[in-house]
Amino acid sequence: MHKILVKREIAQKIKFIEVEAPEIAAKAQAGQFVILRLDEAGERFPLTLCDWNKKKGKITLVFLEVGVSTEKMGKLNEGDSILDICGPLGKPSEITKYPLVCIVGGGVGTAAAYPIARAFKEAGSKVISIIGAKTANMLILEDKMAEASNELVICTDDGSKGEKGFVSGALKKLIDSGYNFNAVYAIGPTVMMRAVAETTRPYKIKTVVSLNPIMVDGMGMCGACRVTVGGQTRFACTDGPDFDAHLVDFNELMKRQSCYCPEEKSVLQHYHEGCTCGK
Ligand SMILES: Cc1cc2nc3c(=O)[nH]c(=O)nc-3n(C[C@H](O)[C@H](O)[C@H](O)COP(=O)(O)OP(=O)(O)OC[C@H]3O[C@@H](n4cnc5c(N)ncnc54)[C@H](O)[C@@H]3O)c2cc1C
Ligand code: FES
Repeated sequence: MHKILVKREIAQKIKFIEVEAPEIAAKAQAGQFVILRLDEAGERFPLTLCDWNKKKGKITLVFLEVGVSTEKMGKLNEGDSILDICGPLGKPSEITKYPLVCIVGGGVGTAAAYPIARAFKEAGSKVISIIGAKTANMLILEDKMAEASNELVICTDDGSKGEKGFVSGALKKLIDSGYNFNAVYAIGPTVMMRAVAETTRPYKIKTVVSLNPIMVDGMGMCGACRVTVGGQTRFACTDGPDFDAHLVDFNELMKRQSCYCPEEKSVLQHYHEGCTCGK
């Protein structure tokens, strides 16, 4: 059992929790994730490690409520417990000292971008971060991203804060204005990661994305997280989640991500109607 120590709503439907998990905190590295199960009847679902404190034995998770499991978790309070948290899982991001690296976070993906930006800065890289959201009150972790970066660019789709437009547009502007990035890391909705990949492709800038296919075991056994990268089948949970953005088959990924949409919709409706059977 893992006790929730801190819980805050940091944007609409986005929750920030700190949870007791000393073994995971001791080994966590940027780019890794955990798989949770809230209770005996719960499904397994992955969340990225946003932060961790080895001394205090706690980890930070940030999640957007999109379906039954994330809505249920959003209802838990400080003092409540999560049944299982398995991790850290996945390969850590490859952190090296680059003269100039760009970290791009879209929506709740900013929570996963934060530890990567921090790790690059700690390694001595100059870090330019771009974070984006639909509107100002959906932006998250602005202060943390500012701390983890040498420069921070903020974008909103509606222009309510920072630059109006998508993170990929802000990235193109930086490149065209002379920022000579050695690498770009992008984490967010799949369409955003694809847009970043297409932005950097003509400039031949090394670009890495953190993929988020459906995962079940998170250990390379079930095959649920299968993705095609450079024409080869890879498992995002054990071979990734970081992959070369210019080689990812994003169309296949999006198809596979949405393959259970009708079932997810009906289970959510069932849950909203007050049923607790878990189906
Ligand atoms: C490596 C990884 C890291 C992630 N990190 C975060 C994070 O830090 N914060 C965050 O808000 N979200 C994160 N996600 C997405 C998160 O796992 C899903 O939002 C969550 O599983 C949805 O479950 P649900 O029951 O609430 O919604 P559902 O209604 O079951 O699903 C809604 C959508 O979420 C996705 N999803 C559903 N089940 C899974 C699953 N088992 N594995 C992966 N995706 C699923 C599907 O695209 C689905 O259409 C991550 C996903 C992966 C693969
Ligand atoms: S989640 Fe089962 S193989 Fe990756």
